[in-house]
Amino acid sequence: MIASATLAQQLQLVYLLEKEDLAETGKQFLAGLRQTPKTISPRYFYDAVGSDLFEKICDLPEYYPTRTEASILKQFAPEIAAITGNAELIELGSGSSTKTRFLLDAYQTFGQLDYVPVDVSASIVELAAASLLKEYQNLTVTGLIGTYEQAIAHLPDPHDLPRMLIFLGSTLGNFSPSECDQFFAHTRRSLRMGDYFLLGVDRHKSTEILEAAYNDRQGITAAFNLNMLTHLNQRYGGNFDVKNFAHRAIYNTEKCQIEMYLDCKKSQSVHFAALDTTIEFAAGESILTEISRKFHVDQLQTYLVQQGLKTVKMWGDRQDYFGLVLTQAI
Ligand code: TRP
Repeated sequence: MIASATLAQQLQLVYLLEKEDLAETGKQFLAGLRQTPKTISPRYFYDAVGSDLFEKICDLPEYYPTRTEASILKQFAPEIAAITGNAELIELGSGSSTKTRFLLDAYQTFGQLDYVPVDVSASIVELAAASLLKEYQNLTVTGLIGTYEQAIAHLPDPHDLPRMLIFLGSTLGNFSPSECDQFFAHTRRSLRMGDYFLLGVDRHKSTEILEAAYNDRQGITAAFNLNMLTHLNQRYGGNFDVKNFAHRAIYNTEKCQIEMYLDCKKSQSVHFAALDTTIEFAAGESILTEISRKFHVDQLQTYLVQQGLKTVKMWGDRQDYFGLVLTQAI
């Protein structure tokens, strides 16, 4: 009884997602299919099956980012904590908070620690929070279930401690340049001068290594990409025939970004009963489902200064595959 009361005091979950307006999201989805090239928002990757496949991607031999970032965090979390001192940790897109544990280990040495995971998946935040509270003493978790924008608008009142935003997994690279601008415009407002923002970013490297990471031999990334169509069928009463599409990921060296497509193998019309709409797909046509930008760290640092964030220190791995950048609001 006492134990659970204590646990409740240390855990707060805030549900910020509005009930989905299917007509509205359906309209946006169709607008994407009317663009050239046809585009489907990456948000449709993440149904239950997709989230599961994504966890598997993170463990693939070809997919180096997760394990590389984890090794950097493991090695340098104590140094990061020594630089910032105790801080309130707010993680955007926290998922299972697996890699975050290296930071929590380091910050725990200060005593009382506040962790604010933010994610759109309620179940993943609930699970992560429950296990973290079992593993760590003197930890309070305020889970915010919602989009980054919603979460930023509902952060706990600021402490006397500095705040550190954490954005790992090179998720920044999944934003287009203009989405990046918007993201920093939003997030920077939640930081006072001297507060921190820790970013994990995947770096530009050989096409061969990059393309292998998004075209694994077991076909998990392909299954992840194609699952989007099954998800859309369920969501909008569609009749995509998944076997008429093929996964393709290429590195665009000019834009320094991986582009993930679903290539249409033959011409077909797809009907979405819930949206009362039919869309034509031509043979050889490609649907863009994701970009993953790869960064030059010097250019990134220049960009970050324009966003009001100066680099305090950067850490990497021996192969310079991945970077962890600690920045401070100016
Ligand atoms: N942000 C990571 C990346 O771009 C993870 C990711 C997002 C991803 N979408 C993906 C990985 C699609 C593989 C396929 O690498």
